[in-house]
Amino acid sequence: MHPGWHSDAVVMQLMMQELLYWIGALTVAWLSVCTLRHLLIGLRVWILGNGNLITASKLGKWAVVTGATDGIGKAYAEELARRGFAIVLISRTQEKLDEVSKAIESKYNVATKTIAADFGSLDIYPKIESGLAGLEIGILVNNVGVSYSYPEFFLQVPNLDAFINSMVNINITSVCQMTRLVLPRMVDRSKGVILNIASASGMYPVPLLSLYSSTKAFVDFFSRGLDAEYKSKGIIIQSVLPFFVTTKLSKIRRATLDTPTPERYVAAELNTVGLQSQTNGYLPHAIMGWVTTALLPTTLLNKYIMSLHLSQRARYLKKKKQG
Ligand SMILES: NC(=O)c1ccc[n+]([C@@H]2O[C@H](COP(=O)([O-])OP(=O)(O)OC[C@H]3O[C@@H](n4cnc5c(N)ncnc54)[C@H](OP(=O)(O)O)[C@@H]3O)[C@@H](O)[C@H]2O)c1
Repeated sequence: MHPGWHSDAVVMQLMMQELLYWIGALTVAWLSVCTLRHLLIGLRVWILGNGNLITASKLGKWAVVTGATDGIGKAYAEELARRGFAIVLISRTQEKLDEVSKAIESKYNVATKTIAADFGSLDIYPKIESGLAGLEIGILVNNVGVSYSYPEFFLQVPNLDAFINSMVNINITSVCQMTRLVLPRMVDRSKGVILNIASASGMYPVPLLSLYSSTKAFVDFFSRGLDAEYKSKGIIIQSVLPFFVTTKLSKIRRATLDTPTPERYVAAELNTVGLQSQTNGYLPHAIMGWVTTALLPTTLLNKYIMSLHLSQRARYLKKKKQG
């Protein structure tokens, strides 16, 4: 063997070692910077928060909340009243609207206005438009939404034709139309916040709740697109993606750390406005969001949700059969 070959091989080996060392060192440095960045963002969002942004004195006198008589919408209406906003409550049932508006007026000493409208219909928007005319609206919460009564295969959903129209009108059209009515005056004033309540079900396909999950994915995309369009005009449009919250819609009554009450959820969520254009709104939900999107492979998640929903569906249908 030529002696030069030997020394060439040693030099090559040393160079490879050095290259691998630098690749390793840069990877560790990059991961450390990313982790530190995530920790600092987490600290800013979940510990410090941005709670003082959402006040009537900063944004404008009125808050408009759709689906305001129950669950998450009612919690937004109450929390925004506590922060000094006069509240426009919009829901289907006038008696429930009267009850909630009376309670808010007496507890928080703010003005309220009610508009009874069924978001399942498409002819309600002129009535809502005239109800909102002349109001200085600082924040709109597009909260109204409906889901399935139980997980079901798309073609086996009872009254599928009406179900599709109703869910699309309530979950999608309401968000677009309410934004059409409220955003122009916010743009004129260069001020305003729109919170669109999507769902964690919109972060990935959810078999047996496919239509619901897809409507929420629409809300998420619509919000994030609009936020980019109107940010420079001083408007914040946030996509809110909760996991379970204890409401009629979720059919969960007992609050736990990962299933908060609507009040607890909303108090946490409002701290994230202006800091995240897309948020799970509540720290345990943000961790769940990260685990399900960044750590779990989509196929595994899909299989898990499918089997969970199949067993929920079987339980529901068995109970129904038993009467
Ligand atoms: N709860 C959860 O675990 C969860 C999780 C993720 C996302 N979300 C989303 O959060 C939002 C609120 O859900 P929630 O759990 O608070 O629901 P909820 O407890 O069922 O309350 C729904 C509210 O909307 C009103 N509403 C329902 N259908 C309506 C219609 N057709 N027209 C007008 N108002 C209507 C209801 O009042 P009336 O019946 O009197 O009209 C009620 O005020 C929804 O968009 C939902 O998709 C909820």
